[in-house]
Amino acid sequence: MDALVSLSKRRGFIFQSSEIYGGTGSCWDYGPLGVELKQNIKRVWWRDYVQRRPDMMGLDASILMHPTVWKASGHVDNFTDPMVDCLECRRRFRADKVDETPWVHYCPATKGNKFTIPSGEPCSHCGVTRTLCPECGKGELTPPRQFNLMFKTFMGPVEEDASLTYLRPETAQGIFVNFDNVLQSMRRKLPFGIAQIGKAFRNEITPGNFIFRTREFEQMEIEFFVNPLETVDGRPADEYWHERWIEDSMAWFRRYGLSEENLRLREHAADELAHYAKRTADIEYHFPIGWSELMGIANRTDFDLKQHAKFSGKALTYFDEERKEHVVPYVIEPSAGVDRALLAFLADAHREEEVRGEKRVVLRLHPELAPIKVAVLPLLKKRDDIVRTAHAIRDELSKDWSVVYDDTAAIGRLYRRQDEVGTPYCVTVDVQTVGDQAKGEVGDGKVTIRDRDSMEQIRVPLDSLGSVFRELLGGAAWASVAGRFERKGDGTGA
Ligand code: GAP
Repeated sequence: MDALVSLSKRRGFIFQSSEIYGGTGSCWDYGPLGVELKQNIKRVWWRDYVQRRPDMMGLDASILMHPTVWKASGHVDNFTDPMVDCLECRRRFRADKVDETPWVHYCPATKGNKFTIPSGEPCSHCGVTRTLCPECGKGELTPPRQFNLMFKTFMGPVEEDASLTYLRPETAQGIFVNFDNVLQSMRRKLPFGIAQIGKAFRNEITPGNFIFRTREFEQMEIEFFVNPLETVDGRPADEYWHERWIEDSMAWFRRYGLSEENLRLREHAADELAHYAKRTADIEYHFPIGWSELMGIANRTDFDLKQHAKFSGKALTYFDEERKEHVVPYVIEPSAGVDRALLAFLADAHREEEVRGEKRVVLRLHPELAPIKVAVLPLLKKRDDIVRTAHAIRDELSKDWSVVYDDTAAIGRLYRRQDEVGTPYCVTVDVQTVGDQAKGEVGDGKVTIRDRDSMEQIRVPLDSLGSVFRELLGGAAWASVAGRFERKGDGTGA
């Protein structure tokens, strides 16, 4: 995790929010490369789930909603975590997580020496287990109290109870309250889904682990409405679609680079299920902090639509033409965190390799996610014709992709810089490309393309660059494209 945090800051992916004022510790800012990576994740998600599917539509609901939404959804009463306070140092912990961190212990068996003991383990000298504050090791902890995680705010100019509302803690409710609007305006038949990407806010008691748990984050959520009276393949429609969405979501993360061995599914036990859920399965990822939730896929039944119908007095039903009756759809909810997905993609892509005795740090990001697709590098920055050609290539390619020009170091260094931020391809312009007028040599009009992962290089005519990158960045394997072109020596940059 330390390597990721440091690379993220050094290379402009992620900065601590308000860092010059000491930072908040619970919110993060995405820098120039981070915002590209984040937008790419959201773009491919939207393309795969909204644009390409005939049964899905998008929505962008407001963050501030009518306060009754949160009463109806159960968040005012149930969206709480149990917390405990240290009476000595005043630190606050989630009661259910307090044993998951290492704890400080002043051991009586060693004249009060201070030890930091791994989470959940007893002291190896005196044998006691933790009862006091895990951070200061001295204070008693208060009994657990429930703490609501929603951020409160006021709508309008008067700060009074009547104008109290909340920053949304999930994007889902914006979809439920718009169910009928979408149904009527778009004339849909069940099953269909509504997708939304947007910010959510939770006053987490213990935020931390970089962007894993923050107080402001983004979600990519789908509410997929199904007819509970129907069966598919002999199973109730909700159970069939729940399974389909679990498989689909797993496949989506694998498609964009998460390795099989770092992904697993975890079913929620009956006593862990949220108040609205019939079944929930989490996709967990093996983060640097251990196995943790990446996304949840819940069967929320008809709970939300019924609650909003009850509190608003509006019918939120679907007319089943075949059976001639109104039904309240069941909902399958695949819900992923954008920031957590970004952390997983970063962690999985990050490698430290040895190339010819030197360390190479590389982000093997999927080309669709990579913040920069192509870097154009002139081999000699003193040669005007080389520099001009390189700029012209950048200008042309940047009509379709995010492309950078860099001439601020020697070629080996430039390759390393691009490897470290995950740029899948570099284009090098050299003397061979433009020729040497002084010596009466004409150029061959070809440039070198270097592949980040294999470090192989090919010579490609300038007028084929656009079509070659359309293939490569459109998903073609390097080997299948490279085989058609002349190979060039090694691109290790050593
Ligand atoms: N609408 C259902 C819902 O919000 P959730 O499991 O509470 O379910 C869904 O959240 C996803 O949102 C999580 O799997 C996680 O990826 C992300 N998420 C939740 N809380 C987060 C936080 N404090 N920081 C970053 N991501 C968070």
